[in-house]
Amino acid sequence: MTVFFQLAYLVGAVLFILGLRGLSDPKTARGGNLRAALGMGIAIIASLLYPLENSHGNFVWIIVALVIGSAIGWISSSKVKMTGMPQLVSIFNGLGGGSAMLLAFVEFLKFNDSGSYSAGLTSLTILFTLLVGSISFSGSILAYLKLDGKIKDKHVTLPKHTIVNLLLLVVTIGTVGYAMFNPSMMSLVIATVISLIYGFSFVAPIGGADMPVVISLLNSVTGISAATAGFLYNNQIMILGGILVGASGTILTVLMCRAMNRSLMNVLIGGFSATGVAAAGTSTDQGSVQPTQPIDVAILLNYSEKVIMVPGYGMAVAQAQKQAKELDEILTKKGVDVYYGIHPVAGRMPGHMNVLLAEVDISYDKLLDLDDCNSELGDTDIVLVVGANDVVNPAALDDPSSSIYGMPVMEVWRAKKVIVFKRSMKPGYAGIQNPLFFKENTNMLFGDAGKTLKDIINEIKTLD
Ligand code: TAP
Repeated sequence: MTVFFQLAYLVGAVLFILGLRGLSDPKTARGGNLRAALGMGIAIIASLLYPLENSHGNFVWIIVALVIGSAIGWISSSKVKMTGMPQLVSIFNGLGGGSAMLLAFVEFLKFNDSGSYSAGLTSLTILFTLLVGSISFSGSILAYLKLDGKIKDKHVTLPKHTIVNLLLLVVTIGTVGYAMFNPSMMSLVIATVISLIYGFSFVAPIGGADMPVVISLLNSVTGISAATAGFLYNNQIMILGGILVGASGTILTVLMCRAMNRSLMNVLIGGFSATGVAAAGTSTDQGSVQPTQPIDVAILLNYSEKVIMVPGYGMAVAQAQKQAKELDEILTKKGVDVYYGIHPVAGRMPGHMNVLLAEVDISYDKLLDLDDCNSELGDTDIVLVVGANDVVNPAALDDPSSSIYGMPVMEVWRAKKVIVFKRSMKPGYAGIQNPLFFKENTNMLFGDAGKTLKDIINEIKTLD
């Protein structure tokens, strides 16, 4: 029987790894997700049943919790809009951290009541799980509230927050250490509450645009807490699953920081705050912009040979991927080569643009990554910047005072003509003005991207 369960763990582990592998490419991501979910299902059932005496006859409680949890997960995942995905990830992540925290809390009390308590490896593992789980829980909940716009950055930031956090970290470790050597309900509650406060305070000063990086970091932290909780129960699949989440979360965090050309420390101390000018009119000291109309863009497109669309967060907001695909099909029929330039941090989560374009079945052969796109731009007739802003900002290359200086960007201004689709002159997520809008070869097409793309499609249909 033991062999059977160990085999189930092995199958679960292999499915986790195959799942992660699948997630590395948009073509295989859906299958990867399903494989990982299947692995998790097998792991849950095997952990429930083996060894049977571990259930303590609590099957009714366990099954009720499983049904409620699965129903909440299923309903919220099916209802969530693409733009709400980071919030969903952060709340799910927080719940993972919260369960590790509760697990550790109960195990610590059990250990203390057993009469065999000693300050050693077991208590250290339990308290480490408690510390990391609590930080991940409260940090993720604050990340969720910030991303959902329920809390503004300025409402939770203290002056000299970096110093406050450093002191709080020392106090947190101190209270956890105290609980280890003076085990009691009181010392445990204090350690938990202080850890929760630290998690909250850790996330508080981090700017909105950096939230995805923080969520990814918290995700890896939750993975670590799941792995240490696995040690408590000597459960190999929990250890392995936790390590995989911890490692992949860390890699993703590093990749995101690299794509923005920033260090993790810079992200954590809130270096990407909105320090720039948030211009509201159509004219600033950078000069005036040149607005255009759908009919003019339609004429330009009709006589072009090569077009690149650069989607950004605004495409997700406008849900304009359908119209983008329709325009692509019309232009392709006219013999125009149409490509999409995908910046690694366009949108609000890794792979955001890939997911949007995959939703409308845009062929992967048409997607150009940052380097490929930049090398194609020189001989491109028109670039359609659809709801992107920071990722096409030339200040990242030529303005050392800019908060995004050093971030690799799509050099769209090297094309013959650039059309920027956006609703106003408001800045993007970094909160800074974009000199691209004032360049001679740039025209601004104001309005919701879904509507303006549709207008262009209607105009093109009248041309021949
Ligand atoms: P942003 O710089 O955020 O710009 C989005 C633009 O879309 C805005 O200028 C907005 O202008 C426009 N927009 C919004 N709704 C629109 C609509 N319905 N129709 C037309 N335009 C609309 O986006 P980006 O260029 O994709 O850059 C992403 C930012 O997020 C970067 O700063 C990046 O570093 C950060 N970030 C991303 C990630 C990941 S993993 N993707 C992770 C961390 C940070 P209007 O309001 O005037 O319309």
